[in-house]
Amino acid sequence: MACNVAILGFGTVGSGVAEVLDMNKDSITAKTGKEIAVKYILDIRDFPGSPYESLITHDADQVFNDPDISIVVETIGGAKIAYEFTKRALSAGKSVVTSNKELVSTHGVELLKIASDNNCSYLYEAAVGGGIPIIRPLYKCLAANKIVKIAGIVNGTTNYILSQMKDEGISYEDALAQAQANGFAEANPAADVDGIDAQRKLSILSTIALNGSYVAPDGINTEGISKLTLDDIEFEKEIDCALKLIAYFSNNGEGKPSVYVAPHYVSRKNLLGSVDGVFNAIMVEGNALGESLYYGQGAGMLPTASAVCSDVLEASVTDGVPAEIRLWSEKAADIESYGEIKCDIIVRLDGRADQALALFADYEASKLSGNAILVKGIRHKDIEGILEGESDSKWFHYLG
Ligand code: HSE
Repeated sequence: MACNVAILGFGTVGSGVAEVLDMNKDSITAKTGKEIAVKYILDIRDFPGSPYESLITHDADQVFNDPDISIVVETIGGAKIAYEFTKRALSAGKSVVTSNKELVSTHGVELLKIASDNNCSYLYEAAVGGGIPIIRPLYKCLAANKIVKIAGIVNGTTNYILSQMKDEGISYEDALAQAQANGFAEANPAADVDGIDAQRKLSILSTIALNGSYVAPDGINTEGISKLTLDDIEFEKEIDCALKLIAYFSNNGEGKPSVYVAPHYVSRKNLLGSVDGVFNAIMVEGNALGESLYYGQGAGMLPTASAVCSDVLEASVTDGVPAEIRLWSEKAADIESYGEIKCDIIVRLDGRADQALALFADYEASKLSGNAILVKGIRHKDIEGILEGESDSKWFHYLG
């Protein structure tokens, strides 16, 4: 029996999907009992000389009107044409599988509902953490838990940049150019370095952690890595930390859920502190399980295709029965305002750590070096006021 697939968008991930389905054809057929065949590849470009040249079409109607196509892989990216095509496919009862975190995070509520109404699936394992299994583990393996905390390195490009600057001593621009050449970065890498890509992924993770109560990306306070200096990166050695862009979610029962993206000095004692290069890692704490860690390549052609193809397999074995529909609620989640969120921070006041301790005397604070202190449990809104007038001060989030 055959299961016909159309790939929309033949860029890095789309071409990886075709390659993985070919490379592992026998094993995939053995697992699903079906031959999964790519029938069309829809793209505005031609790919002369590609082994998939004969499958290229520029005619979207051909794809959507073909009753033989039961699964559509959307690897176009963005939330414009990909949104229209996804709605069209789902409305026609074709399951859609995607790596598109922008689309899932902005229109997931609507798209999951359309899938449900049309007895097909909208699956997005590849939208967070590239090849790392994280969506299905959250929904299924951890279903018995209340998710109390998530701390993730979910953007490969920024992690690669920070690692390369530290290890190779190369400039921010050179490290970014390498990430782009390796196919990790977004079409517009500002989405990576400004934290928007991580924000979208955190929106998806938080929504799942809150049982489908929707956390919109634009409601998540987000700071990227573009303001970090080489000096900030070198300072990590002095305090035995690694500077990482962390997507953070906490719902520990004390007040409303806290959700934000920011650079953190991560203690070397924390496993996330050792996650370098394009690798991502997501720590999930469940109230029954305790902490668990999901680690792997968070971007790139074959790792991301690995996750997309796992969803293709999932959709192929369900025969028109939705593979994994967990609807998201239209009602927005009630998350804590950024100013009210309590966090742990490192305050740097070069040569004046004792003075810094005095400034934060009302808090649990300890000296890390002659230049820095650790302050625990302080509200964001209180930090700037205390440091007002200390023109050479800097503060950063801390993850212990
Ligand atoms: N630009 C993204 C990253 C791609 O660097 O992680 C994978 O989502």
